Amino acid sequence: MAGKIFLIGGDLPVHRLGFGAMRLTGPGVWGPPQDPHAAAAVLRRAVDLGIDFIDTADVYGPGDNERLIRDTLAPYKPGLVIGTKGGMIRCGPATPGNPGMSMDGSAAHIRRAVEGSLRDLGVECIDLYQLHRVDPATPIEETMAVFLALRTEGKIRHVGLSEVGTEQIERARSVVEVATVQNRFNLTDRRHHDVLVHCEQHGIGFIPFYPLGAGTLTDAATVATIAARTGASSGQVALAWLLQKSPVTLLIPGTSSLTHLEQNVAARDLVLNDAEMTALEQMGQAPVG
Ligand SMILES: NC(=O)c1ccc[n+]([C@@H]2O[C@H](COP(=O)([O-])OP(=O)(O)OC[C@H]3O[C@@H](n4cnc5c(N)ncnc54)[C@H](OP(=O)(O)O)[C@@H]3O)[C@@H](O)[C@H]2O)c1
Repeated sequence: MAGKIFLIGGDLPVHRLGFGAMRLTGPGVWGPPQDPHAAAAVLRRAVDLGIDFIDTADVYGPGDNERLIRDTLAPYKPGLVIGTKGGMIRCGPATPGNPGMSMDGSAAHIRRAVEGSLRDLGVECIDLYQLHRVDPATPIEETMAVFLALRTEGKIRHVGLSEVGTEQIERARSVVEVATVQNRFNLTDRRHHDVLVHCEQHGIGFIPFYPLGAGTLTDAATVATIAARTGASSGQVALAWLLQKSPVTLLIPGTSSLTHLEQNVAARDLVLNDAEMTALEQMGQAPVG
């Protein structure tokens, strides 16, 4: 079975089951959470449970999510790794069919964004800085050149990408080392399987976002049967499958609930046998409704 620790960029150890903080915002990822005390309690409990990797982004709020993390967790526990993202601008709440964001991968915007995240997170160097989306108006090489400069200046430690294909990864790597790739991937959505394989081949961490299908994972018969045998929930089976599928997956399930957080963290101890892994793999080969 794959180990529990992954070295981001070869030198930053994290447990492979982390926490995605996006849900700790207002509706539509807009503004602060409706209950800031409850949101802070989730963050504190995550760290108490041994989570040492938290994912956020400047557009969650915007700014509110990074500031909630700072106000709740700073001074940070040694070894806690925070990954944030830049390269997008939030113009309003996300609504069905409208993410409420636009892209900007220009050097001027990335520099402004990094300064904002350094301030909002209360750090002198960002452990993992991810390009949230590739801006079609800016060649990825141009955006990566500013990431490289920011790394040289000590403002960011490692570089990540999000929602990219293998060709974009290679174009980025022609400019700067890429430590992680964060793409949508879960039991019922494996369109980026080639990217996962590419990451394995190059020792790049693969961070599947929506690991729980954003809470909409179907209770397919295969999953339900495995859940019943193991006494786990279908969500825990989905997370355990991602952990066992590859040694480079780094999970960031999101929740605003303490109970769900504890359930998700418990998935790190769930061991699926070979037959169960095979059944879950085969499930991905047929269209899943
Ligand atoms: N790179 C990108 O473009 C991108 C895009 C989206 C997300 N992300 C990152 O990925 C992280 C994870 O994504 P996500 O939070 O949207 O989706 P997710 O982790 O797949 O699912 C979260 C949803 O599932 C529910 N949930 C969580 N644990 C549960 C449990 N044990 N039982 C039942 N329901 C449960 C949550 O509701 P409750 O709050 O009620 O638990 C929430 O609605 C985000 O936090 C963010 O950091 C990145």
